[in-house]
Order: sequence, then structure tokens, then C-alpha cells
Amino acid sequence: MRILFLGDVVGRPGRVAVIEQLPGLRQRYGLDFVVVNGENAAGGFGITEPILNELLDAGADVVTTGNHVFDQREALVFIERHDRLLRPLNFPPGTPGKGAGLFRAKTGADVLVVNAQGRVFMADLDDPFRAVERELEACALKAGADAILIDFHAEATSEKEALAHFVDGRATAVIGTHTHVPTADEQILTKGTGYISDAGMCGDFDSVLGMDKEEPLQRFLTKIPTGRFSPSSGEATLCGVAIEVDDRTGLARAIAPLRLGGRLSQTEPAFFLAES
Ligand SMILES: [Fe+2]
Ligand SMILES: [Fe+2]
Repeated sequence: MRILFLGDVVGRPGRVAVIEQLPGLRQRYGLDFVVVNGENAAGGFGITEPILNELLDAGADVVTTGNHVFDQREALVFIERHDRLLRPLNFPPGTPGKGAGLFRAKTGADVLVVNAQGRVFMADLDDPFRAVERELEACALKAGADAILIDFHAEATSEKEALAHFVDGRATAVIGTHTHVPTADEQILTKGTGYISDAGMCGDFDSVLGMDKEEPLQRFLTKIPTGRFSPSSGEATLCGVAIEVDDRTGLARAIAPLRLGGRLSQTEPAFFLAES
């Protein structure tokens, strides 16, 4: 099974990149399942229902989020009627929406997608390790799910690596999100779980984390806000991670980065281009 995960979509440039390119990528790579992190899709802050529907229509099977999930307050309401929109699992009890779900891939396989959020240099949510553990106990690899993807939305690479080792051999892949900067540490861990510290963003890299450079720079220089953050409007780089799943074990057979368009160096997953 072939899975593509796209990192945080930032504003209109990120949305345009996803909406224009994802249908073609589904074809080109023969993708069976696609997850997109949409936490910054609406002007850099949160997600609206029309934007969620655009991402789903473009070919996302599931949209994950993170700390910005409820920046557009309407998401507190519409998340309850959208099965394919996840928010971090370890938000306090009673938070609208859900943090995990079982979804059907194009192959007919059942894919468990789990969205969790880190606590280092972030809000002190419930323990993400125990929250993920409960999901894996309830729906284990090859017992309840044919593949398990974990979007770990976290700031600290230490916390991301630790969580990946915690689930090694029990999940198909742990994909880091939130920092908006793609890392070069994609690997298959010793027991077979694919891992990358951060998938990067779908946004304009002539920016500070996808935002127009001026306001963040002013705030670093003066500590005085002079305006709002707004997404940088140049061409986005589509940033993500490709995973080839071993359908017998549900573990990762290969993992590679994807970077298309915009300013970053370009790379495509070679194992999706080879004749299978
Ligand atoms: Fe983000
Ligand atoms: Fe985030």
C-alpha cells in the first residue's frame, strides 16, 4: 500500500499547491491513502469547513491538525460532523471532535490514523504517550488495523523520537508535524516503524514558518506587535513523506520525503516511480 502524508498546509499558497497537485500525485504515484495536516490552512490559523471540504475533494482521505485546530472557532462545531477531521487525541476530556479514526484505503485496507500533540515547549495536554498507547491497545496493528499512521504534532525532536521508539514495531509510521521545517532523518526504526521528525509544511518558504517575514522579524527585534501575522503569498513547496507499507506486516517497507514546487530543493520518492 502506498501512503502520502503532507505537512501543515499554510494559507492560500499551501491550499493552492495541495488542491492543484494532489489529484495528479494520486495518479502519478498510485496512492492508496493520503493524510494532510490542515491546522494552518485558513489564513495560517486553523481550518474552516469549506477549506476542509476542498482538501477532502482534492484527494485527502483524512485531515489532521494540532495546536491551531480551533483557531477558527466554527471548528468547535463542524468538527463534530466530520469523521475525516481529527484533532489531537490528548486534548482534555470533553473537547469536541476525536483524535483517532479507522479509515478505508483504496486497497480496501483499514488504516488507523492517530493525531497526538507533544507537551515539550507546548501546552500541557494529557500525556501523549499513554493516549497513543490506549489507541494501539484498542486497535492493534494486524488485529484491528492493516496500517497505523501517527501524526505527532510536537515542537521538540526529542519527544518525537521518543514517541516513535515507544511505538516501534506497533505502528506503520510516526510522522512529525508542527515545526513547518522538513527534517532529513527519515528512517525505518529497528522494529519496522517508519519515522521522520518533521514532514515540513505546504507553504511559501520565503517566509518565517510560512508567514510573511516582516511581522515576525519586527517582533524579534522590538518585542512589539505591529500587525497581524499573514501567510506569505509566494509559491508554496508541497512538503510531505511517502510510505510504502509491507501489506503482510503492516510495517514500513520504505519512507522518503517529497518536496515539489517553490524554493526548496526538489525530491520525489523514487520507490513510487519505479514500476511495481
Ligand atoms: Fe502548523
Ligand atoms: Fe502546530
